[in-house]
Amino acid sequence: MRRANYLLLVVFTGVLMLSGLGAQEMKKHEAKPLTAEQKMMMKNMAMKNMDKYMVNMDAMMKKLPMALKGSQEATMKRGEELFNNAKALGTNGQACASCHPGGGTTGGEVETPMASEVTGKPYKLPVPTLVGAAATFPKFKVPNDQVITLTDMANNCIMMFMAAQPMDPKSSEARALTAYVSSLSNDDKVSVGAMPAMMKKMMDNKMSKKK
Ligand code: HEC
Repeated sequence: MRRANYLLLVVFTGVLMLSGLGAQEMKKHEAKPLTAEQKMMMKNMAMKNMDKYMVNMDAMMKKLPMALKGSQEATMKRGEELFNNAKALGTNGQACASCHPGGGTTGGEVETPMASEVTGKPYKLPVPTLVGAAATFPKFKVPNDQVITLTDMANNCIMMFMAAQPMDPKSSEARALTAYVSSLSNDDKVSVGAMPAMMKKMMDNKMSKKK
C-alpha cells in the first residue's frame, strides 16, 4: 500500500470512530415542565406576535372601510344620478324621480299602459314611496306572476311608465340604481313581501266600501 493511501485510511477510520463516540453521547429526550423563565418567554413571544397582528389589522381596518366606503359612495351617487335623470333610463322624458321625488312619492296615481279586460279602461295605480320599499323585496308581484327582485321592480317601472327596455340586471346601471333605491330603506325595519302602505290603504278602503 502506498503511503498516501495508508494515511487516508487512518484519517477515515478516525473520523468514523469519533462520530461513533458522538452518537453515544446523544441525550435522550424527556418531557419536563416549563421553567418559569421559559413560561415568561412563551408569553412574551405570543404577545409580540399578537401585537404584530393587531398592528397589521389596525392598518388594514383603517384602509379597507375607506376603500369600501369610497366605492359604495360612488355607486350610490351614480344610482341617485340615474334615478333623477330623465334621459338615462326612459324614452318618454320621465325619470324615476318624476313619480318618486327624492325617493318618496308624488302622492298621486298614474295610468298604466295596460287596460282592464273587464272595464276596458287603463289600470291606475297609486305611486308608492320607495322609503322602506327595498326591505319588502323579493316579493310576489301579480303582473309579473312571479317573485321578483328590487331590480326587476325598477325594470317594471321602466317598461310600464318610462317606455323603455329593461336594464340588464348585471349592468353597472342596474347595480347602481338598485344600490341607491336600497339605501332608501336604511334604518327601516324589514318586512319581506309587504304591500306598500298606500296600496294597503287603497285595498283596505275598497274592502270597507264593499261592507
Ligand atoms: C310614472 C310614474 C313612475 C315612474 C316614472 C317610476 N315609478 Fe316606480 N312605481 C310607480 C307605481 C305606480 C308603482 C306601483 C306599481 C306596482 O305596485 O305594480 C311603483 C312601484 C315602484 C317600486 C315598488 C315599491 C314597493 O314598495 O313595492 C319600486 C322599487 C319602484 N317603483 C322604483 C322605481 C324606479 C327605480 C324607477 C325609475 C327607474 C321608477 N320606479 C319609476 C310609478 C312610477
